[in-house]
Amino acid sequence: MELALTYDDVLLVPRHSDVRSRRHCDTSTRLTRQVSLAIPIVSANMDTVTEWRLAVAMALEGGIGIIHRFMTIEQQAAEVSRVKCPESVVVRDVQTLAPEHTLKDAWDLLARSEATSVLVVERDHLVGILTVRDLLFEDDPDKPIGAVMTRGAQLVTAPVGTSLDEAKRLLHEHRIEKLPLVDEQGRLRGLITARDLMRVYQHPRASRDATGRLRVGAAVGVVGDYRERAEALVAAGADVLVVDIAHGHAEHALKACRALKQRFPDVDLIAGNVATAEGTTDLIATGVDAVKVGVGPGAACTTRIVTGVGVPQLTAVLNCVRAAAPHDVPIIADGGVRASGDVAKALAAGAATVMVGSLLAGTEESPGATVLRDGVRYKVYRGMASESAAIDRYRRLSLGIDQERFDARVPEGVETVVPYRGQVTDVLFDLTGGLRSAMSYLGARCLREFVEHAEFVRVTGAGRYESLPHAATRAARTAPSAE
Ligand code: XMP
Repeated sequence: MELALTYDDVLLVPRHSDVRSRRHCDTSTRLTRQVSLAIPIVSANMDTVTEWRLAVAMALEGGIGIIHRFMTIEQQAAEVSRVKCPESVVVRDVQTLAPEHTLKDAWDLLARSEATSVLVVERDHLVGILTVRDLLFEDDPDKPIGAVMTRGAQLVTAPVGTSLDEAKRLLHEHRIEKLPLVDEQGRLRGLITARDLMRVYQHPRASRDATGRLRVGAAVGVVGDYRERAEALVAAGADVLVVDIAHGHAEHALKACRALKQRFPDVDLIAGNVATAEGTTDLIATGVDAVKVGVGPGAACTTRIVTGVGVPQLTAVLNCVRAAAPHDVPIIADGGVRASGDVAKALAAGAATVMVGSLLAGTEESPGATVLRDGVRYKVYRGMASESAAIDRYRRLSLGIDQERFDARVPEGVETVVPYRGQVTDVLFDLTGGLRSAMSYLGARCLREFVEHAEFVRVTGAGRYESLPHAATRAARTAPSAE
């Protein structure tokens, strides 16, 4: 029987290094055969992790998000479009009031939102703009907005579809911070703000396609409407499709991969999940462009407990990497990443990227609900094979619950909460910072060198214990023994 290990069973051995700073370590990698990323992190296609907001944040930082499939085809395609929209900095749900509204109405609206201006419309037509600055020295709350707002020739607008470079030029030329977008009839269609535009220019490492749009992936299943779903997602601009199934080494999964690759030869296809060399080779034979590895390591997974099936993640990654290497197909290590050290171990084992669920579920941008417990903020995170995800899925897809089918399900995931972790950028900063440090310990300037220099040692329980902060373990060590 082969011994299988996971991240906590091993450590990377430090070696002579001439890398002076971790800033000199380059984390760029490949997601698939054709798609490159500046950082090796992919957000999981789960309904408490990746929808458009998180996908935008991932792509801006140089990673990529995979939009989950637990919604209607139209909804999922709209999520993809929202990331791909050439101006994903364009605000579409703009705050508006009518000229007859009062300054008090404007104050109330601004106080409720993060906006610093209100666009003034009459029957959808833009007639003015009111900014916080306009309101500063006004002391009559009942005055109509129409008497104070900027209007007429002073109102700078641009047509729908204005490029970001052109928007930047107009904002600069007119020394303004908001650029409303209007259609040919003068109807308000969106807003570009200087603040949002700056974000684009502040992210030179963002994952963008050949036309400068942010990259995004989208998941499909392997039965039912998966072909129509894939059509709609590709039409919406998805850069990669992800065949998302718990057992990717199943005949129907292989069949779906063949069908998708045949229909969309130019769209990179990721498929999984598998945990063996044979699974990897069989998926690659269908033509896929990356293989996702991981059966049961995830934070919300109970597959191994419920079914007794799985392979500890480090061994799974090593075996799949070995099988994929001759075909030059990248491996995505999916699940079980609890800290940056796990990212380092997965990549040192040869994975090209890691897929992360739990750590990103706690971010501001994730779609999971926020909950307060004893004054501490958490976000909901759940396995996609959990009972609550199944109930919501039936509800979201308006399927109605087929009681018999539903009762026959055996959940392989749980619903839980994870600590609130701030913004995606902060989590990615920690994960990639830790990875860069690991690279510098191994004298590696790039991930290829990192793999070449990697030497793992197995650790014992005592070794693991020693690795933890001693303050955390001291209490346990000095506590009176139960014996
Ligand atoms: P982490 O550890 O990053 O793992 O939270 C994310 C990955 O977990 C997988 N996943 C599941 N696995 N039952 C499972 O056995 C589930 O209900 C489930 N939901 C998600 C998935 O591969 C994801 O990317």
